[in-house]
Amino acid sequence: MTSGADTTTQSMIEQAQKTLRDNDLGGYTVPTHGLYPFQWNWDSAIVALGWLPFDETRAWEEVTSLLSAQWKSGMVPHVVFHRPSDTYFPGPDIWGVQNTPDSTSITQPPVLASVVKLLHQHGREQALSGEALHTVVQQLIRSHLWWYNSRDPENTGLVVSYHPWESGMDNSPAWDEPLRAVPKVQWSYTRRDTSHIDASERPHKEEYDRFLYLVDFFRKMNFDDTLIYQDCPYRVNDVSMISILHRGTRDLLALCHDLGIENAQTQYLAHRMTLTEEAIGELWHADTRMFHSKDTRSGKLCMARTSAGMLPLFAGLVSHTQLPLLINELDHWLKNRPFALSSTHPEDPNYEPQRYWRGPIWLHINWMIAEGLLDYGCTSQAERIKEASRDLLYVSGYNESFHAQTGARSGGADFSWTAAMALYWLLPA
Ligand code: GLC
Repeated sequence: MTSGADTTTQSMIEQAQKTLRDNDLGGYTVPTHGLYPFQWNWDSAIVALGWLPFDETRAWEEVTSLLSAQWKSGMVPHVVFHRPSDTYFPGPDIWGVQNTPDSTSITQPPVLASVVKLLHQHGREQALSGEALHTVVQQLIRSHLWWYNSRDPENTGLVVSYHPWESGMDNSPAWDEPLRAVPKVQWSYTRRDTSHIDASERPHKEEYDRFLYLVDFFRKMNFDDTLIYQDCPYRVNDVSMISILHRGTRDLLALCHDLGIENAQTQYLAHRMTLTEEAIGELWHADTRMFHSKDTRSGKLCMARTSAGMLPLFAGLVSHTQLPLLINELDHWLKNRPFALSSTHPEDPNYEPQRYWRGPIWLHINWMIAEGLLDYGCTSQAERIKEASRDLLYVSGYNESFHAQTGARSGGADFSWTAAMALYWLLPA
């Protein structure tokens, strides 16, 4: 690398650190100001990795502030409303939870356990004392037990999600079919997202009406896990959620082992992992040669080809027979594309290179896929995805996501999780 490149990298690192500091509201980091003015679950987990190389204490604070909103049931909510803001809809009044701190009533992909394992493994100082780490691990155990017990009460091996927002891939074409079964709300409302971002990048009103119906439904069910499982009109085996949970449980159990925690709860979690390993084949499709989510209401696979279908790599859930087929699909997906990996396959009929989760590229998804590829020894594909991710930073900076064809900004600017991926994964020597 020339000294010119060194200077550029150094200024990119400084810019990424500044992005996190500017988005820091004291103990938690907003994804970006205006569009997302609260603490988001999987954003914060990823962001903790970004703080790690330059402020380890702050990295742990990100984790503990998120876990401070854990429900009695064990659920870690998808958004925590630490303080009011009028730049976002739907706010706490619509969710109707009334906890302290207040939150939404749904969750998001549980990548936190994997992150905590990495913080523990790579931390240079003992930023979190033994006792505090123990508390975090106990909170994570409760969270993962909640996942299996409340989201898979029939021991199928495949947990369910109740809202596209839980997936974090809010507007993925995978949800089109299951979402159509959800009624629309009849009340009128004013969206705030389209006042920050062009409507051509955001979900349509029709989808928003159904998103809000579900929010109302959870409140009317009094947030009761059993009632919601029985009656929720949207109930999906999200392959991304299942994969992230599985990897998270594996990492959590490894952490417990290191800390000498072995008990009935850890044995139970290990047992739940075997159920998932036995069931994951149900989400594989022989024609597309990749994994898909499943609408448990209709029993059908959601056939859109999305990057979620690659996440079983992160979980170690791909069999030796599936692996070459899946890698072949991935090679084809990557071939002749200047940027990667689009959230929807460019040859899928639902592909839209700039609309949320229907085409744009997200770097934390790339990171998880690349980690999985390395675990399977697919180093050239892992390297290709890493290079493609780094290129995006140089093309257009710390954006929420990237236009799949031009690499231009998609969504918000000065975005925390992209800065975090730069600091943790893409820019270090
Ligand atoms: C959008 C994304 C979701 C993310 C949130 C905050 O809703 O779809 O994954 O957590 O923004 O960045």
